[in-house]
Amino acid sequence: MTDVGIVGAGTIGLTIAWRCAQRGMSVEVHDASPGSGASTVAAGMLAPVSEAHFGEEPLLALSLESRSRWPDFAAELGVDLGYRESGTLLVGLDAGDRAELDRQHAFHHRLGLSAERLTPTAARRLEPLLSPRISGAVHTPGDHQVDPRRLYAALLDAAVAAGARLVPRHVEDPATVDAERVVIAAGTHSGPLLGAAVRPVQGQILRLRGPAELGLVIRATVAGQSVYVLPRADGEVVVGATSAERGFDLTPRAGDTYELLRDAIAVLPELAEYELREYTVGLRPGTLDNAPLLGPTSDPRVIAATGHYRNGILLAPVTGELIAELLATGRTPEALIPFDPRRFPSERHSQRR
Ligand code: GLY
Repeated sequence: MTDVGIVGAGTIGLTIAWRCAQRGMSVEVHDASPGSGASTVAAGMLAPVSEAHFGEEPLLALSLESRSRWPDFAAELGVDLGYRESGTLLVGLDAGDRAELDRQHAFHHRLGLSAERLTPTAARRLEPLLSPRISGAVHTPGDHQVDPRRLYAALLDAAVAAGARLVPRHVEDPATVDAERVVIAAGTHSGPLLGAAVRPVQGQILRLRGPAELGLVIRATVAGQSVYVLPRADGEVVVGATSAERGFDLTPRAGDTYELLRDAIAVLPELAEYELREYTVGLRPGTLDNAPLLGPTSDPRVIAATGHYRNGILLAPVTGELIAELLATGRTPEALIPFDPRRFPSERHSQRR
């Protein structure tokens, strides 16, 4: 019998497959259409500080741990993933946006995170394409980026090269997976497999192309709306992302594209001249507290590794390495304990078996 059956060949499932196969376990990854979920839509921000939110401190700790693993993770995959230690600039446009930046910066400061308040002039020295209309900025030098499509291709190769086998099959019940242990890494489809609340949170994202002049990742608040702009070294620029609760709806909406471009161009006017290459809609796997479900479930055979919401790419290294450790040793690593899938009282009894 196979040691580990993984349900879901997305970034998380493949990272776990790769790490388990490296430890000598036999691994099968079940997915009817690998790579069709959030993995290849995601922008690829590795941004624990600029994605930090009040009340989500355990998630921040896991995110910082994963970020510290990223350089070795990228190096070990051994191909160009578009991993750039570029840093991020948070900017605000109007006076209200500046007040929001002040709130964020006070939060960063309280948690001892690396973030520096900048004047608009200093911010424009770092990124000359920023609009002269920006009202304030914060530099988070440790928030980086990677290209999730390159990452996905590299993980697929690495997992298969390490001995993992892909099984083109849709799994509706973990009981049908013939393996010693089953890992549910099925993103937005994980809910019914675990008897847990995982819901799709829609995001639309755009891909533009222009001269490779932008250096830093920009996250802006424009009249209270968030937009981010990630410049890749090859001239691709990712603009994201909307956030809407519309169930399993993958319809791109004209209004979403309009609002993303309006806000991105308000902050970086040059983007108006760029070629619009792609608009894509993805579904983030959201949980009740926005943190992932990682570790043993009430079924002793089943491990959860899902619900990464806005942070799946960032959290891939720590998730893959610690879930593989759990499978190899039978002990839950300390860092996973706050993310116990059984932490929601009402669900303790509704989980399978
Ligand atoms: N982490 C970026 C997003 O979810 O849009």
